Amino acid sequence: MDHFTYIKGQLHAEDVPVSAIADAVGTPFYVYSTATLTRHFKLFDEALSWGPHLVCFAMKSNSNQAILKLLADLGAGMDVVSGGEYARARAAGVPGDRIVFSGVGKTADEMRMALTGGIRQFNVESEPEMQRLSAVAQGLGMQAPITIRVNPDVDAKTHEKIATGKSENKFGIPISRAREVYAQAARLPGIKVIGIDVHIGSQLTELEPFELAYAKVAELTRHLRADGHEITRLDLGGGLGIPYARTNEAPPLPTDYGALIQRTVGDLGCEIEIEPGRLISGNAGLLVSEVIYVKQGEDRQFLILDAAMNDLIRPSMYGAYHDIVPVREAAPGTPTTPYDIVGPVCESGDTFAKSREMVPLTEGDLVAFRSAGAYGAVMASEYNTRPLIPEVLVHGDQFAVIRQRPSFDEIINRDTIPAWLVDTPV
Ligand code: LLP
Repeated sequence: MDHFTYIKGQLHAEDVPVSAIADAVGTPFYVYSTATLTRHFKLFDEALSWGPHLVCFAMKSNSNQAILKLLADLGAGMDVVSGGEYARARAAGVPGDRIVFSGVGKTADEMRMALTGGIRQFNVESEPEMQRLSAVAQGLGMQAPITIRVNPDVDAKTHEKIATGKSENKFGIPISRAREVYAQAARLPGIKVIGIDVHIGSQLTELEPFELAYAKVAELTRHLRADGHEITRLDLGGGLGIPYARTNEAPPLPTDYGALIQRTVGDLGCEIEIEPGRLISGNAGLLVSEVIYVKQGEDRQFLILDAAMNDLIRPSMYGAYHDIVPVREAAPGTPTTPYDIVGPVCESGDTFAKSREMVPLTEGDLVAFRSAGAYGAVMASEYNTRPLIPEVLVHGDQFAVIRQRPSFDEIINRDTIPAWLVDTPV
């Protein structure tokens, strides 16, 4: 559920009319709801309340510092995948001992940064990474706390670009070799093994793949303990999906997911970590855009928006579906008409939806893309020298710009023209 509803025919973000935000900041923009973010975080937190746990927000889904601070204040940890994300989390006030570091390609600099700045654990994904981490930690006179990410070879039954738990994916070490790799870890002086990590993919709409993966993790925990390793923490990854289309069956709830975790690994006495991103931030955000033109093609009508693929890449990249709704509610019973909904970028791939039935819209009307709070703003680019769009956070009847729209000067002044080109043009 979310907090974007029609009140007196106008779409609101909590108690604020979306059109009032558009008037204040211009379009396009992202808007997030504090109430939805809070609710979704708490659902996970409560679903794991049967034991010691930490919900680490996968900040790759939305890394605005206002959102990180909001979630951290509620008790969240963070799952980071780069030095940049680590720095952002720290800048937002997240303590190092609540940050887990994931990712297949951590560099020595990133390891050093996290070790000196404070880190809960590294989720190590390969033997060479483990060796490098050991060397870096030793160099600092430290031991790096780690889990090893295992690849359970489970089909997550999601889009191939966001499935990560099959043996052909680049992630983790094959679970079949786990005991050997843990033995190696135990011999490395700069490494302290504390647990196991697994993450099988994103936008999972069934619980079964989680169940299969976590059962394998439970079995591995027993084997590793028998081998003499102290396994005290299980990081079970993220991935629980959200309903993008209102007509679809709803994916499982965090409560069911929490119960599944308790059923599969709850008797091991481990501290549980999870890394949800999308389910916390996805339905907590809208992308709001204005219709620039309605263009008549030979056999179709194009709705040309001021938002484009550079602002929200998911439809072009994954063929993802986002509900697109008018900000001013149409009268009940208004007949719909099919539109191809597109942006101004010079590529046919800049298409948000084809033959989408919408109530008739005209120039200047506002539309909102639902479920745009996760993997929206964070995946945006400045393609076509289109400035990154503002982000706004709503709380009750107040709203604040949490990222400004940059000026053209700010963007173009980042380039430098070398002196030799200025003095003597080639
Ligand atoms: N943990 C790890 C190690 C991950 O790789 C991911 C997502 C998550 C947690 C969070 O997964 P979530 O709960 O958000 O599903 N850009 C794509 C999604 C990529 C997900 C990558 N990893 C999209 O727009 O659908």
